[in-house]
Amino acid sequence: MTDGTASRRIAMPASGPDRDAGFLKDVLDGLGRPVKTLPAKHFYDQRGSRLFDRICELEEYYPTRTETAILTRHAGDIAERIGRGVTLLELGSGSSVKVRLLLDVLDQPAAYVPVDISGAHLEASAARLAADYPEIPVSPIHADYNQAFPLSVKGGPERTLAFFPGSTIGNFSPEEARAFLARLGRQLGPGSRLLIGVDLKKDVARLEAAYDDAAGVTAAFNLNLLERINRELDGTFDIAAFAHRAFYNGDLGRIEMHLESLRPQTALVAGVPFRFQAGETIHTEVSHKYTVEEFRSLGRDAGWLADETWTDGEPLFSIHLLTFQAPPSRFRRTSGA
Ligand code: AVI
Repeated sequence: MTDGTASRRIAMPASGPDRDAGFLKDVLDGLGRPVKTLPAKHFYDQRGSRLFDRICELEEYYPTRTETAILTRHAGDIAERIGRGVTLLELGSGSSVKVRLLLDVLDQPAAYVPVDISGAHLEASAARLAADYPEIPVSPIHADYNQAFPLSVKGGPERTLAFFPGSTIGNFSPEEARAFLARLGRQLGPGSRLLIGVDLKKDVARLEAAYDDAAGVTAAFNLNLLERINRELDGTFDIAAFAHRAFYNGDLGRIEMHLESLRPQTALVAGVPFRFQAGETIHTEVSHKYTVEEFRSLGRDAGWLADETWTDGEPLFSIHLLTFQAPPSRFRRTSGA
């Protein structure tokens, strides 16, 4: 996503010993672009993760409780389709809450393999899980699931189930999502399965309320990105001079979150100045929404065929069970990872 514009235009300041070099680089790159952006992955420092947990409990934010209700209702059916002795791999396992609904019903799972970029979070939740499910071996992998990570599964691809809940797939563009799913399929192998949560297209007012709640928790989550820059990168953002904006872009089928500058201003990041016009925004997140058929088609293009899809009654949210074959030839990778 980096076009290198910023690093060509401005000298990179020296990183301090405590600075996350990747965060600094992304911020300088993103704010140096003609249309300013910041990668959504940087929302999740300690405060951001806490705010996200609060978002998941908001009345307006329906995805978490709806996905949990679908999983609870159909856990038996899911377990039957998966069969005995599966290795369950969870991508971005966080606190491993939803996966318990599966572990409670799966027939003698061979292992639970949580994959998460946050080492501390991973160790703590893996330890809790191992204590609660002493008969299931827990083998955490500290890795960014967006990159290839080392994995060996005893029972082979047919006995591997990847679990990717929460509609996190929506935070990729459709093209990135297809590439991610194709890479995952190549890594897990033909016959492996994927259980994935996907938020659905729906009434615009309902969608927009979920990303702009009355209590202002999502606004605080979005603005925390600027506070994080101030804390960690010697930023000088005047937080009160930016506002949270969230709207549904119907042409692209996605919620967009932005931070809008309320007046002309300049903010420094690690000594580098960035100028903002009044009304100019920093684009901080996309959250794509799909119809069931749109997502099945995206999955097919990545080599994943739909076995079953479960939704709630409205429907607001979907859970898909897919099996990997191979991507259609037009999408087949010719070289590289
Ligand atoms: C993590 N992800 C699936 C959330 C979403 O709904 O796109 C992140 C989020 N951003 C604002 N509210 C929730």
